[in-house]
This record gives sequence, structure tokens and C-alpha cells, in this order.
Amino acid sequence: LPLVSYADGSEERRGPFREGDRVQLTDAKGKLHTIALQAGSQWHTHKGWIEHDHLLGHDEGIVVKTSSGVEYLALRPLLADYVLSMPRGATIVYPKDAGTILMSADIFPGAHVVEAGAGSGALSIALLRGIGPKGRLTSFEKRPEFAEVAQRNVENFLGATPNWDLRLGALEEELDLTDVDRVVLDMLAPWECIDAVGKALRPGGLLLCYVATTTQLSRVAETIRAHGEFTEPQATETLLRGWHLEGLAVRPEHRMIGHTGFLITARRMSQGVLAPKRRRRPAKGSYGTPLTEE
Ligand SMILES: C[S@@+](CC[C@H](N)C(=O)[O-])C[C@H]1O[C@@H](n2cnc3c(N)ncnc32)[C@H](O)[C@@H]1O
Repeated sequence: LPLVSYADGSEERRGPFREGDRVQLTDAKGKLHTIALQAGSQWHTHKGWIEHDHLLGHDEGIVVKTSSGVEYLALRPLLADYVLSMPRGATIVYPKDAGTILMSADIFPGAHVVEAGAGSGALSIALLRGIGPKGRLTSFEKRPEFAEVAQRNVENFLGATPNWDLRLGALEEELDLTDVDRVVLDMLAPWECIDAVGKALRPGGLLLCYVATTTQLSRVAETIRAHGEFTEPQATETLLRGWHLEGLAVRPEHRMIGHTGFLITARRMSQGVLAPKRRRRPAKGSYGTPLTEE
């Protein structure tokens, strides 16, 4: 079969280094530096400098030396490298969670996805990759200064994204779309958005919320249930542990990121159809004294 190709930015991520490319330089200790290539320029360190011209036109995966002979490995940054080093307004979704979100929310090429808040744009980039050039991403962000950061971060990594619509404002007030395939919420109070999301999602559409605390998790789960037209919410968290690989010392790393957030998902039922009742009754006392007075 012939390869189908469309303007998805993949060509810019392949081939020899070109003018304007971001290059990640890694030193012997694993410290990363990112530079943007410009003919005739130099990148200065306290261990000498590197001529950009020594990178331009060469393949990725080469080793370049500073004027004083210190070696750096040169590669284009991966998305995970980029999001961890890009400027932040709001806290980002970490790569391990962004990866899980793409699968748990079933982000597919061509999907129409709604997201809030855009924050620093880390998740927006992952979602734009997942939906591809034929998909559509509408992101809401209520803080203009964060929206600007998101805009810049997304553009810097993906270039022009005509299928991304970044809107300023609170999702629960501004969401006027229908037939949306997926909604992904990463914000303090996603329960305030459930009604608006219920109107926007198509039957069978999926809502995913990313929350940092168990109190948020509980409140959003109960709000989804109370809506009635969502399937039973399901929650997960992902723990990712790096491994140390050195001779016979092959063991888990001593340190890991212990906590980022929880994912909770539910599917939109057809309009006016209530979700089937849960088969198991909650244990006595499960719905005891509320944590907060309404
Ligand atoms: C944790 S950050 C999102 C980070 C983003 N997912 C990323 O990966 O870079 C939460 C953002 O949600 C925004 N926000 C909170 N409530 C919102 C709402 N109701 N509608 C739109 N944006 C909201 C905040 O201003 C903040 O920028």
C-alpha cells in the first residue's frame, strides 16, 4: 500500500539537522541543554563553545566537541524531554500520565477533543499528536497569562496547528460545542463542568478528569454519578519507577516521583438514557457525613 502523507510535522522530525531545528545536547553527566540551530552561531558553555555549523547538515546521534574538547551527544528532543524543559505557567501533566491519558481516553486520529485548562500546553501537545492533522482540539484556559504560555509552547514544538482552537474563558461558561468525541479536564474543580460536558459529548463519548487529590477524585466521581447519563466512573493512578542499570547493580532507582494525579473516566450515555444501576450496593456508611457543607 502507498504511504499516506499529510502535513503532520513528521518530516521536520527526521533527516539531517536543519536551520531552526531544536537540538538537545547531553554532556557526560547526562545534563541536557537545548539549542535552536542558526548558521554561523555558537553555543557557549564554561567548557568552551560549539559551532552550530558543526551540527547543521549532520544526522542526529552524533557527538560534537566544544572548542576545549568536551563531548556532547546531539539529538532532537523527544516530546517528553521538551515538556519537562519548556517554560511553565501552570503545573504540567507529566509524560507518564499524558501517555496513559491518550490510551485511557481513547484519543484517536480524527477525533474532536475538548480540553481544559490548557495550562502550560503539555497535554495539548500530546492530544494534538494523538488526533493528528484530521482531528480537532478545542482547549479552554481561563487565565490569559497561562494561555499565552500554552500557545508559545505548542507552537514551538508543533509549528502551525490550524486544527487547534485555544479559547480564553472557563469551560463551564464557554463550552458551546456538540458532538464532541472526548473531553479531558485537568483543573481544580472539574465537577463544575459536568453539566456542560454532558451537553457537549456525543453518545458514547468519553470524559476523562485528571485530579491531584482523593477529595477531588471523590467529588468528581459523585457528580458524574449524580448526572445520571454517564457510565459508572473508573479511576486509576500510574506509578512509574525507573531502573538503575550498571554491571551487577541492576535494581530500581532509589528515587521516583511518588505522586502526580489520578485519572477518572466515564462514557456519555445516549441523551435521556440513564446509566444502568450499580449491581453492588455501597457499604453501609460509604455516603456518611459529607466532607464539606453544600
Ligand atoms: C494544572 S493546569 C493544566 C495543565 C495542562 N494540562 C498542562 O499539561 O500543561 C490547570 C489549568 O486549568 C485552568 N483552569 C482551571 N479551571 C478552569 C476552568 N473552569 N476552565 C478553563 N480553565 C480552567 C487553570 O487556570 C490552569 O491553567
